[in-house]
Amino acid sequence: MNVSELVSKMTLQEKASLLSGGDFWHTQAVERLGIKGYMMCDGPNGLRKQEGSPDHLGKKESIKTVCYPSANALASSFDVDLEKKLGESLGDECNREHISMLLGPGLNMKRSPVCGRNFEYFSEDPYLAGKLAAAFVSGVQSKGVAACPKHFATNNQEYRRMSGNSIVDERTLHEIYLQAFEILVKEAHPKSIMCAYNQLNGTYLSENKYMLTDVLRDKWGFDGFVVTDWGAGKGPAKGVEAGLDLVMPGGGSDHEKAIVAAVESGELSEALVDKAVSRILDVFNWNEENADLDAKPSDDATGKADYALAKELAENSAVLLKNNKALPLEDGKKILFVGEFAKRPRYQGSGSSHINSIYVSNALDAAGDKGVSFARGYDTLDPKSSDNLRKEAVQAAQDADIIVVFAGLPASYESEGFDRDDINLPQDQNKLIDELSHLGKKVVVVLHNGGAVSMPWIDGVDAVLDMMLAGDAVGEATVRLLWGDVNPSGKLAETYPVKLSDNPSFLNFPGDHGNPVYAEGIYIGYRYYEKKRMPVLFPFGHGLSYTEFEYSNYEIDKESITDKDTVNVSIDVWNVGRYAGKEIVQLYVSENDPRVSRPHKELKGFKKIELAPGQSQKVTFTLDKRSFAYYNDKLHDFYVESGDYSVMIGASSSDIRHTISVHVEGTVDLPYNFTTFTPIEDILESRKGKEVLGPVIDKVLAENDKEGGNDESLGEAGAKMFEKMIKEMPVLSLASFGMMSVDDVQKMLDQIN
Ligand code: BGC
Repeated sequence: MNVSELVSKMTLQEKASLLSGGDFWHTQAVERLGIKGYMMCDGPNGLRKQEGSPDHLGKKESIKTVCYPSANALASSFDVDLEKKLGESLGDECNREHISMLLGPGLNMKRSPVCGRNFEYFSEDPYLAGKLAAAFVSGVQSKGVAACPKHFATNNQEYRRMSGNSIVDERTLHEIYLQAFEILVKEAHPKSIMCAYNQLNGTYLSENKYMLTDVLRDKWGFDGFVVTDWGAGKGPAKGVEAGLDLVMPGGGSDHEKAIVAAVESGELSEALVDKAVSRILDVFNWNEENADLDAKPSDDATGKADYALAKELAENSAVLLKNNKALPLEDGKKILFVGEFAKRPRYQGSGSSHINSIYVSNALDAAGDKGVSFARGYDTLDPKSSDNLRKEAVQAAQDADIIVVFAGLPASYESEGFDRDDINLPQDQNKLIDELSHLGKKVVVVLHNGGAVSMPWIDGVDAVLDMMLAGDAVGEATVRLLWGDVNPSGKLAETYPVKLSDNPSFLNFPGDHGNPVYAEGIYIGYRYYEKKRMPVLFPFGHGLSYTEFEYSNYEIDKESITDKDTVNVSIDVWNVGRYAGKEIVQLYVSENDPRVSRPHKELKGFKKIELAPGQSQKVTFTLDKRSFAYYNDKLHDFYVESGDYSVMIGASSSDIRHTISVHVEGTVDLPYNFTTFTPIEDILESRKGKEVLGPVIDKVLAENDKEGGNDESLGEAGAKMFEKMIKEMPVLSLASFGMMSVDDVQKMLDQIN
């Protein structure tokens, strides 16, 4: 169809009808013009296609399908190729099911570990989240299916998510909360974006022109359509004016009527309505032209191929947090599995991403003929019976060589719609692990969790394998990892703090009346813990392997660049252990002597490589302007300060193996308009200021030295004090101290400004 021709034939009523859904999951059809209703449905860790009565909270059934690991697990794989493969597979499934748009992925930042929906989000780091989301979206869209990343933006808690107001300063907004979306939009060109329910700095996202037009379209070049989160539509005319296109879900006619009335009264320009309609039709047109409706069917009704992918993803996502030579398990040992989750694993989160699984494997069955015995240990639904179950487990453990405890967060602890109260596991589980760890046996803990948890028993156990929420293949993947058929290779995409109150958002989460002030600014996750040098339970990027990797031969191809150049950093990684394995090499950057507050480490590159024992591989990273930049709110853009930067390569944020220095020269001047009250050192930071005022100040300092202007009894402090005073005082003070006239100060400023 030719979209502009089509739009020109439409009545105002028909156009307005396309701006809100026809029902819960479809756009409206305009039969007269052959426009059909297109279906969209939730993801992204599986397809939640509802054929019966709809709802958006996962309470009612959807078609049976395969559930993949959730985003917190997938992010731990740090594997963009696997993310893309998952996107492709879901794209195929959408085509088979005649779905035009997949609602996902979710890429909000993990500001607090207790956000109820953290399992649906990737990371506390925007670079990692952006890269993974871009890979996923490229995969989905390579199949001609539109992806709809969500929730744009600053929806970082569930409490009052539909009404709360996130108060965020401009630098923090762009550097942390928008950067993942920016990477995604620029790299993968999503066909749609879902705006969040909440307000940002006093304006609902669904009518926020700054976000939906100025930033998303004008700054980043987004050319798809914006859809509301389900039920997030507010004032229809305001929404369209702000850059909102489609309001979901539909069914009522209020929105259409209001659009028609607003156009007829002159409140809303029809040209804007045309634009929104065109953007929506463009995307579905593209879908019709590109969707491969003959996409290969799943090889049988049980979704075998998809299940195999779910297993591959789970195996690549699990994180071995601790291992005191307890893993991999050896055959011939008496092994006891303890815990309800060994039989009935927790493998996905609740809410709109909830999948109606065809089949879920459990570790006990998957262990098959390995001769594993079992004790239930606790009851998530009836914790009162946990005391007895714990006693039975301790009794059963007397007979075992190795105890593997399956623990984690019950479904009622984390979900869309509400936040967690704390980061603790249920008390009965902590007690169980603690008692078992005092029996003098080897204890391995397997965790199922959608977010960070505390581990008061950590010193008493020998190993911890974090499966996160691993999807349908959870049981089989866990057993293969435990016995070393596959080597763990995930690393944490979020910090596990010692306790919740260590988290930087703690004092402002969830905010008074659900209006959080993001007072911690850019310091979220490891950016905060690293800066404070605060001990954490497990740092960002941490994860062990059954083998060992050594890093050597660091090279950088330039020692000094401008912010227009790129620089290559490379390193050799060797597998020096006995097992084949995968390593995630991480690169962090920091500015050595920044003039604004900056983190000690920021992730700017990562690569996952696979090595056989004895094998090595050179890993190369290319750094560009953005790797060194921070968001400057005078420039309203990312900006590189001239200075020396440290490039750190390592195995985790706290395990840096080598640091290389590079000088970067910024080529952009910050905008300025200096007044007589501007501190001298601020003027000296500008190129022109340095040129004009620099020699004056040098002279003042030199004369002070020459005249012995410093009281000898002050020693070196005298000179330092004088220099500080001169540089920090307003430039007008040069006149106050008689060093030049007020007129000359003004002339100098005129020359600089
Ligand atoms: C969720 C979205 C979801 C939508 C449709 C909303 O409540 O926030 O993530 O895509 O429902 O189910």
